[in-house]
Amino acid sequence: MKWTAVLPAALALPCHGYQPLARDGSASPPASSQCKCSPVDSCWPSTQKWSSLNQTVSGRLIKVVPPGAVCYPSFNGIPTADPAKCAVVAAQWTNSTWMADQPTIPMTTHFSNNTCEPNLVGGGGPPAGCPDQCLQGFLSPYAILAESANHIKAGVNFARQHNLRIVIRNTGHDFMGRSSGWGALVINTHRLNSIEFDNKKLSDGHTGGTVKIGAGVMFQDVYPKAWAKNLDVLGGECPTVGMAGGFVQGGGQGPLSGIYGVGSDQAVSFDVVLANGDLVTANDKKNSDLFWALKGGGMGTFGVVTSATFKTYPKVPVVGMTLIIADQGDKFWEGVRIWYTQASKYTEKGMYHWYSMADGFLQVQPMVAPNLTVAEFNAVINPLLAQLTAANVSFTASPVQSFPKFGDLYNAMWEKTHWASGASIHWGGRMVSQRDVRERGDGIVAAYRAMSDKYPGQVLFGGHLVNPGNKVKDPQQKISAVHPVWRDTADIEVFLYLPPPCQNTEQKAESERRVTRELGEILRNATPYSAVYPNEGDINEPNWQSAFWGSVYPKVLKIKNKYDPEDVFWAKASTGSEGWAVRSDLKLCKV
Ligand SMILES: Cc1cc2nc3c(=O)[nH]c(=O)nc-3n(C[C@H](O)[C@H](O)[C@H](O)COP(=O)(O)OP(=O)(O)OC[C@H]3O[C@@H](n4cnc5c(N)ncnc54)[C@H](O)[C@@H]3O)c2cc1C
Ligand SMILES: *[C@@H]1O[C@H](CO)[C@@H](O)[C@H](O)[C@H]1NC(C)=O
Ligand SMILES: *[C@@H]1O[C@H](CO)[C@@H](O)[C@H](O)[C@H]1NC(C)=O
Ligand SMILES: *[C@@H]1O[C@H](CO)[C@@H](O)[C@H](O)[C@H]1NC(C)=O
Ligand SMILES: *[C@@H]1O[C@H](CO)[C@@H](O)[C@H](O)[C@H]1NC(C)=O
Ligand SMILES: *[C@@H]1O[C@H](CO)[C@@H](O)[C@H](O)[C@H]1NC(C)=O
Repeated sequence: MKWTAVLPAALALPCHGYQPLARDGSASPPASSQCKCSPVDSCWPSTQKWSSLNQTVSGRLIKVVPPGAVCYPSFNGIPTADPAKCAVVAAQWTNSTWMADQPTIPMTTHFSNNTCEPNLVGGGGPPAGCPDQCLQGFLSPYAILAESANHIKAGVNFARQHNLRIVIRNTGHDFMGRSSGWGALVINTHRLNSIEFDNKKLSDGHTGGTVKIGAGVMFQDVYPKAWAKNLDVLGGECPTVGMAGGFVQGGGQGPLSGIYGVGSDQAVSFDVVLANGDLVTANDKKNSDLFWALKGGGMGTFGVVTSATFKTYPKVPVVGMTLIIADQGDKFWEGVRIWYTQASKYTEKGMYHWYSMADGFLQVQPMVAPNLTVAEFNAVINPLLAQLTAANVSFTASPVQSFPKFGDLYNAMWEKTHWASGASIHWGGRMVSQRDVRERGDGIVAAYRAMSDKYPGQVLFGGHLVNPGNKVKDPQQKISAVHPVWRDTADIEVFLYLPPPCQNTEQKAESERRVTRELGEILRNATPYSAVYPNEGDINEPNWQSAFWGSVYPKVLKIKNKYDPEDVFWAKASTGSEGWAVRSDLKLCKV
């Protein structure tokens, strides 16, 4: 079965994220603990103060009204219903480009407490059976739609002076909910969209040039411009993910990682607004510790990146193919086993397999083989197809196609139905090491089956067979502040637990428990020498510091404490966040 067949008709998958539920601050902090000022506290800035901030940012401060409010009678006591506008919101809800333009709402609606959602089927709101109330949910009251680094400085200074929680938001893609939060001032970077190519050579021997981008730039903005110049940049597969935010600060991987490494390995320089309001440059000469930490060492926690510079490469030819295994029961899982356990054969050639999977349906669309010839590709893939045939597994393989550059393959072959936004999904994930696939690959596939069988029809998988350490080794973690497993990865994988609609708070908590304690546990037990990609995992991952960063964590934590000693920035399960938690009353407080 295809992902799209399991989901409500209007919802493809998954350009979206997930919010740490407020209640998960399980340990209730003592009454004496310090909290960030929230809208219900007397320390919350007065209307005059907000207006003066608005002047400092040239009128770019907005009071947040959820876009879906037009589908409900009122929001905060003000009438909002507008059926014509509501039809537009319902039509655009799954359009991740539209969603990225919104000031605050997360693409995984779970992280707004599913507030003010439109009814995608009926074209109005609310979704059938859900309450007809548009509440604040977990959304912030104010957002700065920054158009310059000065607007960002003003926001950081205001939040620091008034002890406010800050949430940094670019596209809202974060499936772990870090780009939304109740009671915070949102600093929205999405309107910083400059793109400048430079073909000057770098001193480190890199043969390509660079591209400097504003913090709001998405892959779909930079890819076509690079391809038109016969250049490649290393980005992710989803066109609406941002390049300078969570992607690079959490590591980042993409179809060219098998030849060019981790996303963060590509960064050459960052401009960053620090907690003290200073705008600084971080590169291998200036603030080099911060530069290193921003390369994979934690998202939304060291400062607000205003622009970033990345390597570009001369294009290489690519070969691609699509493989679909559609079979039942044991035969299906035997097909998955045959394909999956040979991951190292593909990754050692620099290949990348982007897949989605549900019980009975595996779609690898596409396999990407950068810089391989068709003959080299066939030498790896023909034995796989022969083994599937011998096992009498039902599958279809597309013709092998070759393209002069990656962009041509991307436009021609990519499975695009997974780029939508606006679903409520609980996510987990694992970065499965080569070692685990080599030593216990059959057990990992059995674990996927067990997870799928546990909640039939509610568990889906997506992932990438790729090894960012295939060509770019970094044994001492000098290039990027990423978990060492990144350099020995076979599969960067997410799983999705699909809850029924309109869950109440207790039901949401139960869904989270299933992800962390049941499904996640099955996968953890099957992969003892693996890690978790900090952007594509469970926000409630136990021991997230070691799961996400392993042995580099103490070093990145030290840099966090040096640049942000007062915790002006905080993002759940990101570096240095352990001293604070969101309480059941939604306030962010010290623990
Ligand atoms: C459909 C889909 C496909 C994906 N595909 C890939 C993929 O192929 N490869 C891959 O590596 N990842 C992929 N991801 C994961 C993606 O990299 C993360 O979700 C990433 O965090 C998104 O970053 P963003 O800035 O676009 O999103 P946002 O949700 O706006 O921000 C994400 C995080 O970054 C922080 N942040 C954003 N901008 C800044 C800034 N300027 N300064 C400081 N902090 C900032 C936010 O506070 C938040 O913590 C995918 C996600 C989705 C939903
Ligand atoms: C900020 O100023 C702009 C322009 O004057 C105005 O449109 C906007 O409503 C103001 N924001 C707030 C929160 O008052
Ligand atoms: C998706 O949203 C973008 C930005 O609002 C818009 O330009 C585009 O036309 C939309 N796509 C569709 C299919 O509506
Ligand atoms: C979150 O949603 C639940 C279910 O609709 C509701 O009971 C709860 O009050 C909401 N919380 C907030 C803060 O909006
Ligand atoms: C592409 O392959 C050629 C021939 O094997 C090799 O010389 C070149 O270095 C490769 N380029 C990259 C970027 O891997
Ligand atoms: C192969 O599988 C099909 C169904 O998928 C089944 O009908 C057939 O008997 C199988 N053949 C062998 C030789 O196992």
